[in-house]
Amino acid sequence: MLVLGIESSCDETALAVVEDGRRVLCSLVASQIAKHLPFGGVVPEVAAREHLKVISPMLEDLKAQLGWSDLSKIDAISVTQGPGLIGALLVGVAFAKGLALALGKPLIPVNHVHAHIHGALLGVSEDHQQKYPVLALVVSGGHTNLYRMTSPLEFQLIASSIDDACGECFDKVAKVFGFAYPGGPEIEKLAIAGNPQVVNMPRMVDEKGRLEFSYSGLKTYMANLYHKEPKPIPAQRLHDICYAFQEEALGQIARKLAYAVTVYPDTKAVLIAGGVAANQRFRQILAQALPCPSLFPTLAYCSDNAAMIAALGYHTFKSPNFKEVADWDAYSRYDFDQFRLDPSSHALQR
Ligand code: KG4
Ligand code: ZN
Repeated sequence: MLVLGIESSCDETALAVVEDGRRVLCSLVASQIAKHLPFGGVVPEVAAREHLKVISPMLEDLKAQLGWSDLSKIDAISVTQGPGLIGALLVGVAFAKGLALALGKPLIPVNHVHAHIHGALLGVSEDHQQKYPVLALVVSGGHTNLYRMTSPLEFQLIASSIDDACGECFDKVAKVFGFAYPGGPEIEKLAIAGNPQVVNMPRMVDEKGRLEFSYSGLKTYMANLYHKEPKPIPAQRLHDICYAFQEEALGQIARKLAYAVTVYPDTKAVLIAGGVAANQRFRQILAQALPCPSLFPTLAYCSDNAAMIAALGYHTFKSPNFKEVADWDAYSRYDFDQFRLDPSSHALQR
């Protein structure tokens, strides 16, 4: 079964065709980073207008790359319904609704955050794709969400950040220090030459028995550190600071995940998805911290893409509960509360 995926929730326009939720036939991503760079972050109206400009020509490119003269081979279309920037989402949703109507194909709206997990699964071996239960962490600019999954469509949210997301913390700290946007890759590059022994970073959120993440304390600590440093900050000092920051930002996740595995001892693997999963040091930290395999997606499926939308669309379509409805809306924010477990249920059993 071939699903066409469409993604336009933030600053990437993406189209992809995926077979049976696993094999990516073609995946195109048009990044708007250069357009937003002068503003130091994503400008929602600019994002929506850019999606509108590129989405139709990208569909022509997709057909050309697949050697198709039309879209008759497509069995269904899947599109990001939310969460995201509402103007940006509406471009992809309206485009998908029009296309589905014109082609007479089913249309499957999907949740972008859940789709990141299926993006991660696209990059791991078939063997690991079949293994449940897993813990899946979506760690991006907007989310630090930990899910327990017992099947491809069961996303049980067991923890999230009580304030900033992990990627957001990387971006905000980078902004304070004057590094380019997005901050995550810049900090990772600088941290490589850092001396682990120099900057003594206090451990944030070490509360045992709680799975929730928190990044505003680390962000504030880093802003205060910046203001205390004599200026200009020497290059080696910046390397050392970035190293210590990255260890704590990712170390918090490692500690929480190690605890989560004790709460859910039947966990077969921990899957990491979202932009921060691109961080190479993160892989080493988790490999040391966890008793089970940690699976990272191939880099192409870490950040926003449409292959992940098509993959989740496939599983949704195959589900016996799937019913196509015509009058659905896009949503900019998601009501996660309906999935949240009582935090007291994470109390450590000793
Ligand atoms: O998933 P994504 O592309 O977009 C959404 O937020 O949905 O994630 C982008 C986030 C940004 O905050 C960026 O700084 C972070 O992922 N990021 C990284 C790295 N590459 C991207 N954070 C740490 N290390 C990296 N190498
Ligand atoms: Zn995303």
